[in-house]
Amino acid sequence: MLEFKNQLPFIENTSLQEVIKVCETPFYLYSQDKIIQKVEMTKKVLGENIFFSVKSNSNQAILKLMQSLNIGADVVSLGELKRSLSAGFDPSKIIFEGVGKSKDDLTFAIQKNIRLINTESLEEIKLLQSLALEQNKYVDIGVRLNPNIDGGTINKISTGKKTDKFGIEINEIENIINLMSDCKNLNLIGISCHIGSQISNINAYKNTFIEMKKSADKFSLSGINIKHVDLGGGFHVRYNKNDPEFKIENIKKELDDCFSKSNYELSFEPGRYLIAEAGILVTSIINTKQNGGINYLIVDAGMNTLVRPAMYNAYHEIEEITKKTDETMNYTVAGPICESSDIFVKNIHLTKQSIGDILIIKNTGAYGKVMSSTYNTRALPTEVLINGENFAIIYAPDKIEKNIEEDIIPSWL
Ligand SMILES: Cc1ncc(COP(=O)(O)O)c(C=O)c1O
Repeated sequence: MLEFKNQLPFIENTSLQEVIKVCETPFYLYSQDKIIQKVEMTKKVLGENIFFSVKSNSNQAILKLMQSLNIGADVVSLGELKRSLSAGFDPSKIIFEGVGKSKDDLTFAIQKNIRLINTESLEEIKLLQSLALEQNKYVDIGVRLNPNIDGGTINKISTGKKTDKFGIEINEIENIINLMSDCKNLNLIGISCHIGSQISNINAYKNTFIEMKKSADKFSLSGINIKHVDLGGGFHVRYNKNDPEFKIENIKKELDDCFSKSNYELSFEPGRYLIAEAGILVTSIINTKQNGGINYLIVDAGMNTLVRPAMYNAYHEIEEITKKTDETMNYTVAGPICESSDIFVKNIHLTKQSIGDILIIKNTGAYGKVMSSTYNTRALPTEVLINGENFAIIYAPDKIEKNIEEDIIPSWL
């Protein structure tokens, strides 16, 4: 995404130096062009029924862009639902998932007439029925099924094994069918699944498709006509050159093998795949030191800015902007947070770096800013969107003083 023109870093036709002049590091920067390319390519392979997983990047400028590309939104909380509406998504293009939706969440979703509320338990179906009855409404719903398939991803982002908390076990379909006969205000028209994130194993997709097709047929045979089959997201992004190759075209082949003779409307909920590679995190070196023979570069982004390395052991490639010599050194890049886990990467080779130099942490468009926090009482990162030679700040964080003022000290102290 970063290109060097006369040794100066550019994103699209915007000079990174121009952005740095007006934005304090650390900040996230996204390429609009890259996002558009990825969305269009995905639509070309998988069809128009793409619902962007808002949890991966919920900035309203990004949501507005996604909406302008004619895709829908997949939300997992009331907040994300409100954000998506505020960014301009038509309610008919919003799907509401989530393992823990409250009465208020469901009431709001019913009132807004969104495309589908995907339920994740028999209890939730009963609650939804009582709320729909109360409002005298007929509500289209889906059920998220748990197909008991191990996607081969790390445990922290696995969601499709029967012991995971997500969805309704596939062998409960009979119980769902029986329950639906008591739910006169609900119209069950969809099934969905999502077996986890960073799934590269084509067999896992294939087995999921087979289970979902069988399930849809089972419902349909019972007289519940399933219209939508939502096959989730989770498409793999290559963060590391050693990561497996993943081609979305291979999924398409399995899809056709499984569903070509049926009339179900297939849909998908990718997040990471559409936006991870379109984002970078720009950070400055604020200190250098040698401890126990390790050359540390301490940068101003920390695990509060990008938590993935500390939380999931995730790898993000880091690139230098300043190359003063050809001589390289072995570095460990760490954040400023008071935690030993606040390390971005160990043992990378960069040319000699100094305080004030800029580093780029790559492929951070998904699960970056959305997971940032003010831990250690540090400000949230700024976000910037690049469009050709133009750029705009799309999130300007509050000063940390605002965060400090938000605490309420009780009168007895
Ligand atoms: C229900 C649901 N759909 C879609 C996604 C998007 O996953 P990914 O960003 O890996 O495509 C997630 C994230 O885990 C999810 O929980």
